[in-house]
Amino acid sequence: MEISNAEFVISNTDVEKCPAGTFPEYAFIGRSNVGKSSLINMLTGRKGLAMTSSTPGKTMLINHFLINKNWYLVDLPGYGYAKRGQKGQEQIQRIIESYILRRKQMTNLFVLIDSRLDPQAIDLDFIEWLGENGIPFSIVFTKADKLKGGRLNTHINLYLKKLHEQWEELPPYFVTSSENRMGRKELLDYIEKINKE
Ligand code: GTP
Ligand code: MG
Repeated sequence: MEISNAEFVISNTDVEKCPAGTFPEYAFIGRSNVGKSSLINMLTGRKGLAMTSSTPGKTMLINHFLINKNWYLVDLPGYGYAKRGQKGQEQIQRIIESYILRRKQMTNLFVLIDSRLDPQAIDLDFIEWLGENGIPFSIVFTKADKLKGGRLNTHINLYLKKLHEQWEELPPYFVTSSENRMGRKELLDYIEKINKE
């Protein structure tokens, strides 16, 4: 699938105010700075569509982008940014959780994991929570350009092994880079396949 049209629609703190209608949506979640907003820009081919920053904590709201006039990409705030302070983190957590648990149009959640890092408790706990709540999700390894060939595969296999300790069956996973567009076709084809179901 190709994206011929991508437009920003609205930012919200409240899931009830997200766009009405039944268009399916695909949301991106993960730790602050993992590359959620960059991935949306990479997929749409529009560099400045979602706001990105080298400093964590950039995205603070639920952001809807209408794609090809009939489905949405949704950029969510990241979790686990300690500098936000306890209160700030709790507020962001509430926004994320209410969106994930209550947004019926959310067809699939992409959980982004930095491919350079060893498995982190915060991500594993979050994935566990998704499982407990029956949320459909896939895993997206980001920043693959930062690891060379063999190391990338070794690291990803380690991560999958760790997930296997928790899960008998693993969800689909993708290896991506917003720098060199790795994984773009695979992700868009996957979304297209779900859209057709
Ligand atoms: P928050 O909105 O703060 O939660 O962060 P985010 O997950 O949206 O991350 P964002 O897309 O803003 O990217 C964070 C930083 O990582 C930026 O400096 C990006 O340029 C960089 N980055 C994101 N994706 C990639 C990638 O695939 N490769 C490389 N090398 N850098 C990346
Ligand atoms: Mg962001």
